[in-house]
Amino acid sequence: MDILNSFNEFETAALQAVTAATDADALEKVRVEFMGQKNGRVRDLQKLVGTATPEQKPAVGKRFNEVRTSVSSALDARAEQLKLQTTKAASDFDVTLPGERPRIGHLHPITQVMTEFRELMGRFGFTVVDGPEIEDERHNFEALNIPEDHPARDPLDNFYVACASVAAGRPVLLRSQTSTVQIRTMESTQPPVRVVSLGRVYRPDTIDATHSCMFHQMEGLMVDRHVTMAQLKTVLSLFARSFLGPEVEIRFRPSFFPFTEPSVEVDMKWGDSWMEIGGAGMVDPNVFAAVGYDPEQYTGFAFGLGIERFCMKHYGVDDIRRFYENDMRFLAQF
Ligand code: DAH
Repeated sequence: MDILNSFNEFETAALQAVTAATDADALEKVRVEFMGQKNGRVRDLQKLVGTATPEQKPAVGKRFNEVRTSVSSALDARAEQLKLQTTKAASDFDVTLPGERPRIGHLHPITQVMTEFRELMGRFGFTVVDGPEIEDERHNFEALNIPEDHPARDPLDNFYVACASVAAGRPVLLRSQTSTVQIRTMESTQPPVRVVSLGRVYRPDTIDATHSCMFHQMEGLMVDRHVTMAQLKTVLSLFARSFLGPEVEIRFRPSFFPFTEPSVEVDMKWGDSWMEIGGAGMVDPNVFAAVGYDPEQYTGFAFGLGIERFCMKHYGVDDIRRFYENDMRFLAQF
């Protein structure tokens, strides 16, 4: 029967065209050409159905519906296939590739060392206390037995802060030492005292490889009945050994600080050279008097160490300025 042949030709041609379409646009053209409601070739088939004799009608009608359905589903299936291909290409994701690590920062080397110092001193029974970086003269000098005419009080050797309290006759300055926190602690607590305080101090020094106008100190203070210099030396050498290793030696050299008597410079031998790391001594009775402690009952030791020194030695850093330049090539190494 001619009519059925035409149906078969239509079906074959349509299915071939569907397979040949490689993107959504081409497929849409195929749909319009074959199945378009207005001028699609399917309209001609429909007309042929009208020409069938009454006997042919059932078979022709059935076949017409089959062909229409098979072409429609082929179009749908191909559309689905093409869609899948494009999304796969867009998210060409290889789960076996190593991931991209987010760049997570870390603590500054000085902060890392300070954290370790607090930890170490904590094990020796020292609690951590803090004090303000803007101080008055009582805490930075007077209570520490540093008299008015002492060179350390020269305005040119300190960062005095211009503010309302100067006008009110109470000059303030950026603290030049963490010893201020000794006074603050003793003013607010009774013995026994066993504290460390770590933080920034400021001095208008000329900046070079070993000097900065801001650096960090660790202050230590222990006050009780019968505190001795032997204990001071024990604490400092245990501390140095815990941080840098068991071979580290420490030595005291006679020195002078207004707030300690006797006073010493503390040196540390690490490798084959001696390095000065800070000052220490037995708390001067005048300091006890300034905070209302009875010097007849109590003795104490104090020390102040430069944190950058330790940090430089520990990491082999040759220039203190590196710590403050925020150069990622430097900081990323710690
Ligand atoms: N405050 C001193 C300085 O900055 C260091 C120091 C020396 C601290 C002796 C002390 C000490 O507690 O007893 O140079």
